[in-house]
Parts: sequence; structure tokens; C-alpha cells
Amino acid sequence: MKVCVVGSGGREHALASVLARSTDVIVTPGNPGMAGISAEGHSVEVTGAPPEDVEAGMYVIGPEVPLVQGLADRLRAAGHLVFGPGADGARLEGSKAFMKETLVAAGVPTARFGVFSGVREAREFLATLSPPYVVKTDGLAGGKGVLVTQSLAEAEDDVLAKLRGDAFGDAGRRVVIEEGLVGPECSLLVLCDGRRVAPMLVAQDFKRLGDGGTGPNTGGMGAYCPVGEIGGTLVDTMMDEAVEPLVAELRRQGIDYRGVLYAGLMLTADGPRVLEYNVRFGDPEAQVVLPLLVEDLAGLLAEAASGRLRTEPRFESASSVCVVMTAPGYPLDPSLGHQIQGLDAPSGVEGVTVYHAGTGLDPSGRPVTAGGRVLDVAAIAPGIAEARRKAYEAVSRIGWEGVHYRSDIAEAAALVEAHGGVTPGSVGVAAGDRRRG
Ligand code: AMP
Ligand code: GLY
Repeated sequence: MKVCVVGSGGREHALASVLARSTDVIVTPGNPGMAGISAEGHSVEVTGAPPEDVEAGMYVIGPEVPLVQGLADRLRAAGHLVFGPGADGARLEGSKAFMKETLVAAGVPTARFGVFSGVREAREFLATLSPPYVVKTDGLAGGKGVLVTQSLAEAEDDVLAKLRGDAFGDAGRRVVIEEGLVGPECSLLVLCDGRRVAPMLVAQDFKRLGDGGTGPNTGGMGAYCPVGEIGGTLVDTMMDEAVEPLVAELRRQGIDYRGVLYAGLMLTADGPRVLEYNVRFGDPEAQVVLPLLVEDLAGLLAEAASGRLRTEPRFESASSVCVVMTAPGYPLDPSLGHQIQGLDAPSGVEGVTVYHAGTGLDPSGRPVTAGGRVLDVAAIAPGIAEARRKAYEAVSRIGWEGVHYRSDIAEAAALVEAHGGVTPGSVGVAAGDRRRG
């Protein structure tokens, strides 16, 4: 079976490489880093043809935008096997208001919130909250539409900029304002076949641009897994409280959800709370989780896509760290077209893979920056500290004018590990402690 991956970022690069362990892959529109990669006799081809014109046995849709726009529905209507929800399920990510209302209907624990399109009502609601204040665009904003601030004045200004359409166009003409929660965050990626669910390894990503969690929110500056503090029992709690009730509510609404449910969770003193649901693999979470998969990814996704999810995904007992390298000016105004130096140098560091996120070729075929997030440098090793060291060693060999990356990805986790706090599971562990579905 040939699998068609839709998308052009680091997540799709990781999907293509892991799928290519067992099947031929064609990626649309892909990027220059993906062409010609091969594994165990299978090839990855890149095409500029639209997904509807690509011949494949299964379609895996990477990003949220085509899902929200109904690509999965169109492919299914043409009789294809598709991994990814239809536009009805993708509304979970396409509208934060719909997502929050669905969580409430499902009884899933989430932050108190209000949805507003008028400035006065929004400001009145803000005044009832205490810091931190959280203001989100209702619509898609590439992970950049969320402001978390201690300052009421800044929150009020942000509401105004969003509602007026200045900040995020139509995506911000409705805002979700939430009570601010506190606690460590994690990303739980779950496969869903419309009824049954199967958790993958829990990962942690780093959303802020700068070290120590400073600066604006981004699409993600790095990730690692497994998260040592989260054991199988906590995964089971999250599945019981946050995932299964949501799937039941989606079914009640007539939504047959086949794809990834990505719960962004905060572990508060009162237990896990859902910050958001995304309808696709996390980016860069996919780059750390998928390469550790023991099972055949193509087979797993085909099970979910056909409504027959039977296999519990198992993962190698290793650690995985990914550092995202960005263009100057990211996230608001990335400057592109800079020549990338040293792209092949990391091949000398064992266990490292460089996933292309936003790269292009200049007229003479040399690699240049072509997106805000440019490269995702991922490393696998027996422990977090070693994976981290390898990833940063590889990062130090690559560069371009104005390159930026965080220097503290997985730093705290490596410290915990050094103090004996991380207990990676045994070979072939499943993410939860018991089978479900
Ligand atoms: P989201 O895109 O909704 O996951 O939000 C992006 C980031 O903003 C999250 O990863 C959190 O760091 C932060 N955030 C979102 N909602 C809240 C909240 N209610 N309280 C505190 N921080 C939040
Ligand atoms: N890493 C955040 C996201 O994929 O939305």
C-alpha cells in the first residue's frame, strides 16, 4: 500500500520517515528535505499534485487547516481510506468556542471561560478574573493566537486588537477568555477510530519563544518524551476524564472521528485540565513520539482510519528530544531566504535526525530558510540527558543568519533524570496501563 501524507512541515517529514519503515510514501506538497529519503527498501516521493490527484491506498492529513476545510470529507467521498477527521470533528480545533462548549457538554475538566465578540462584555468578564489572564482567538492562528499575561491592561488591549481584526484577521473576531491555570503541561496524542481510543507516549512541548518560557507563544520550540513524571496511571486518568467522554460526546453529536485527538493538558493541583484539543499530530511532538513507535505506523493508522483500531501502540524504552531552529523574526514576522549552512554535518552525530520544517532551495539548488520554523533537530538515546546533548551537538553544527533556538529544551527533565526521578518503561511499553475500547 502506498500512503499519501498531506503537508510540508517537520511533522509530515517525521510521518513520512516512520511510515517508510513499512510502506512507500508520497508527500504533497512536501519539502526539499523529504525527497528521496528511504528506509528498509521503501521510498518517499514528493509531488506538487493536489491530494485529490494523488493515487494512494491511504491518505494521512498532517496539518489542521486542510482538515478544517474538509479535505478528509472530500477524499472519503471519493472512496479513499483517510486518517484524519472530517470538517465536523476538525471544528474542535477550528473553533475554540466549539471546543470549549463540547468539553463542557462532555463533562471534561477545563478552565472556566467566556466567548465574546463585543469589547464591553469581554472587558466585563476579564474584570471578574484574577491573573494570569488568558485571551484566545476563536479561529485558527497557527498556535500564536493565545495571550497569557499578568497584566489586565495588556489583556484588555489584546481583546481589542483581536476583536477589531487587527491582530489575527477574522480568526480573532470572536475571542475565548479563560481563567488562568497553573501547572506543568503535557501533550497526550491519542489514536481514535470513531469509537475506540489508544494513547501514544505523553510528550512535553515548549510553546514560548525564549528560554525559561519567556516571549510570545509559538507553534512549538521543542519537545521531548517520555515525560518521566507521568506514569501509566495518570495516562489512564487522563483517558478516563478527558478523552473517552469527549469521544462519546462527539458520537452523540453524530461525529465519526477517525484520526488523532491531541489533548493539551495542564496538570493543576486539582488534577489534569484540558487547555485545548487539536485534531492532528502535535508539531514538534510527532518528531519525538513517532520514531519511538515499535508498531508499524501505517498499519496502526489504517486500523483507525477504517474504524477497526485493535492494536495498542507500544514504544521503545528510549528518550527522544527535539530542538526547533527558527528564522529571525519568528513568530510574528519571520525573515526568509537565508542560506542554511552545515545541513549535512549532523549526520556524524549518532541517533540524530534533522526534520525539515520550513526549507526551500534557492535558484542554484542550495537550501534556504522558507518558513518560521526551519529545522527540527531530533535525537534518540537511552536517556533524556544524552538525547538532549546529541540534539544540541547537531544544532551547533547548523546555522544561518539570525538563527534562533531555545537552549533549555528538556533541561529540567534531564536534571530530574540525573536525580533518579525518571523511570523509563520496559521495552515495548504501552502508554496506558490497561487496554481500552
Ligand atoms: P492553547 O493553544 O490553547 O494550548 O494555548 C497555548 C498555550 O497558552 C498553552 O500551552 C499554555 O501554555 C497557555 N494557556 C492556554 N490556556 C491557558 C489557561 N487557561 N491558563 C494558563 N495558561 C494557558
Ligand atoms: N506543539 C503544539 C502544536 O502542535 O499545536
